[in-house]
Amino acid sequence: MRQLIGPDGPAPDLARDLTDSDLGRLYAAPQGPWLRANLVTTVDGAATGESGKSGSINNAVDKRIFDLLRELADAVVVGAGTARIEGYRPADLPTVVVSRSGRVPEGLRAAPAGRVLLATCRAADALDEARDVLGAANVLVLGGHRVDLAELKARLTERGLTHLLCEGGPHLLRDLLDQGVLDEMDATVVPRLVAGLHPRITNGPPVDVPLELTVLLEEQNTLLGRWLVGRNN
Ligand SMILES: NC(=O)c1ccc[n+]([C@@H]2O[C@H](COP(=O)([O-])OP(=O)(O)OC[C@H]3O[C@@H](n4cnc5c(N)ncnc54)[C@H](OP(=O)(O)O)[C@@H]3O)[C@@H](O)[C@H]2O)c1
Repeated sequence: MRQLIGPDGPAPDLARDLTDSDLGRLYAAPQGPWLRANLVTTVDGAATGESGKSGSINNAVDKRIFDLLRELADAVVVGAGTARIEGYRPADLPTVVVSRSGRVPEGLRAAPAGRVLLATCRAADALDEARDVLGAANVLVLGGHRVDLAELKARLTERGLTHLLCEGGPHLLRDLLDQGVLDEMDATVVPRLVAGLHPRITNGPPVDVPLELTVLLEEQNTLLGRWLVGRNN
């Protein structure tokens, strides 16, 4: 993997193969609460391939950064839809599922106590069941009819989960942007065109969020970008 652009501008040595510690330095998060998202897209903007999952478009280059960002995170934050479709299982680090319905995704129901948290709202249909499945202390009720995502970040920070990694999906990513909670957007562009009817990495009502590119990497025609999220207000 080679660096095209870094925090100090164009890379002086385009031919140098980046080590794992180079990558750790390039993706190090600042101190304090930090929420970044990492998703993958084709050149024509598809967030899924023929299987309807991201697994049919991602590749080994993307997987290297996906794994690195998990290593650098205190917790993964994921939309319930993605956890269901992608078949999320308990991971080494805590998984925080965001759900309006309060329905705990099947693959996460048998997680060891405290490994899975659910962020939901008072209007959730399945609130009592979620408390039974995960334990009341692991169900965060953050709002009446919608999940307050800024409050989620604050509550996770209080629990010592400071560096957060959102792995999507598109509706959750859009809502994080809309609520002004996202600090960093990492996106892999895989060298494929797929047409068809696939979601993009954001979905839902329009938002317009400026980004500042700080890192751009390339390997095997795959581009990996690290953008800081600008604030409109
Ligand atoms: N390319 C990539 O990197 C990538 C990454 C992730 C996912 N994907 C793909 O994206 C597709 C899923 O898209 P999606 O947009 O449906 O994913 P999603 O945002 O993970 O799922 C939507 C569901 O998650 C919950 N949710 C999301 N945002 C919420 C919010 N602000 N407040 C409360 N609940 C919220 C709700 O669950 P409830 O129904 O329980 O209320 C909602 O129905 C899948 O095909 C997946 O494979 C691609």
